[in-house]
Amino acid sequence: MLLTNPKVSNALVGMLLTAAVPVVAQQGAYFVLEGGGMPLVLERRDPILSPGQVSNHVHSIVGGNGFAATMDFAQAQTATCSTVSPIADKSNYWMPNLYFHDPNNGSFIRVPEQPYHKIYYKYGNGENEYDTDIEEFPQEFRMIAGNMLYREDKGDIMGPYGSELGWFCHGGNGYPDVAAVGFPTGFTACPNGFAAAITMPSCWNGEDFNISNPSAHMAYPIADGIQGCPAPYNVKRFPQIFVEYWLNINTFDGLYTAQDQPFVLSPGDPTGFGFHVDFINGWDVGVLNSIMPTCKPGNTGNPPLSDDSCFGNYGGTFTNEEMTSCTQMPTVDEYVGWTYGEVDNPVGGVLTYGGVLDGLPGCCPIQYGPNDATVQTC
Ligand SMILES: *[C@@H]1O[C@H](CO)[C@@H](O)[C@H](O)[C@H]1NC(C)=O
Ligand SMILES: *[C@@H]1O[C@H](CO)[C@@H](O)[C@H](O)[C@H]1NC(C)=O
Repeated sequence: MLLTNPKVSNALVGMLLTAAVPVVAQQGAYFVLEGGGMPLVLERRDPILSPGQVSNHVHSIVGGNGFAATMDFAQAQTATCSTVSPIADKSNYWMPNLYFHDPNNGSFIRVPEQPYHKIYYKYGNGENEYDTDIEEFPQEFRMIAGNMLYREDKGDIMGPYGSELGWFCHGGNGYPDVAAVGFPTGFTACPNGFAAAITMPSCWNGEDFNISNPSAHMAYPIADGIQGCPAPYNVKRFPQIFVEYWLNINTFDGLYTAQDQPFVLSPGDPTGFGFHVDFINGWDVGVLNSIMPTCKPGNTGNPPLSDDSCFGNYGGTFTNEEMTSCTQMPTVDEYVGWTYGEVDNPVGGVLTYGGVLDGLPGCCPIQYGPNDATVQTC
């Protein structure tokens, strides 16, 4: 696995051992969009669910700088840089960002992301080769994984290797690894990072995205993809996008105890079950179809994404510096704990973060559940 952090491999190996699905598809025939920097922007925008409007909650937005309040494929294609590596990928990916809700004084402090993204594209079959059933996304394609209203484990959101949505405290330095479907508790530090992991559905029924029913056009494949797609979601099957959202919570060490659950997602979710990721397609047409049969950097020792077997003949990849410097000015005039041009926690550098808030941006009261949250209007 192409994983920055050895602790993660351990956690994933643990999941592999308990997973009931074949694991061979997870080798070789996949690549990781290894982003070199921080998000493109943090702001209350969501061009899929709230086009042209200020959205309900803050998102951490990753990908091309064609991102806009209202966008389609043509708008995505205007990107001149991206926070993810292949120059052919002008897509955007976004998720709710995380705040530390200080148990001592009630302040909300933005949790900085780790200075990289981990977005996997998987297209392997049981023999670790390109599964020829898998095709690239149609131009105007968009989808959402997860549900912002969830406050309990409903068992219908896939995480790594066919398991459920997951949150992970990656220990080390004498601290244990702790994992759960929602936010775990029972730790006081995660020296190797705190992360969410979610799989996007990859089986399509051929219908357009419907804003009134945004998940209706997609489903998860059978046996993590090995056995194809369930009808009627077998019109097309796309590469399976798997997202790890990595955060650095070291700054908060000592400010909470093992009994506390001090984190809250931007929609006012103190459970972690409402974690979700949105995707809007901006891939150059034809590139995924061309590279999937040959691009296999998922095995140790295989050539990287810049190789001709991957994106070498399709623009190559951005340098780490190009990805890190790809940021956007927020277009919503409010403070969310992130500053334009900020580079939090550069590798080896001093951790800084945006700042302290009295409440979550927007109209996002904390809703504990277990019933579904309701969207509030203030
Ligand atoms: C609450 O405590 C945190 C951590 O010490 C601090 O950064 C923040 O400024 C405090 N908030 C207020 C309102 O004093
Ligand atoms: C979109 O979803 C709504 C709610 O489920 C449904 O009433 C409507 O018919 C759908 N629109 C289309 C074009 O399928």
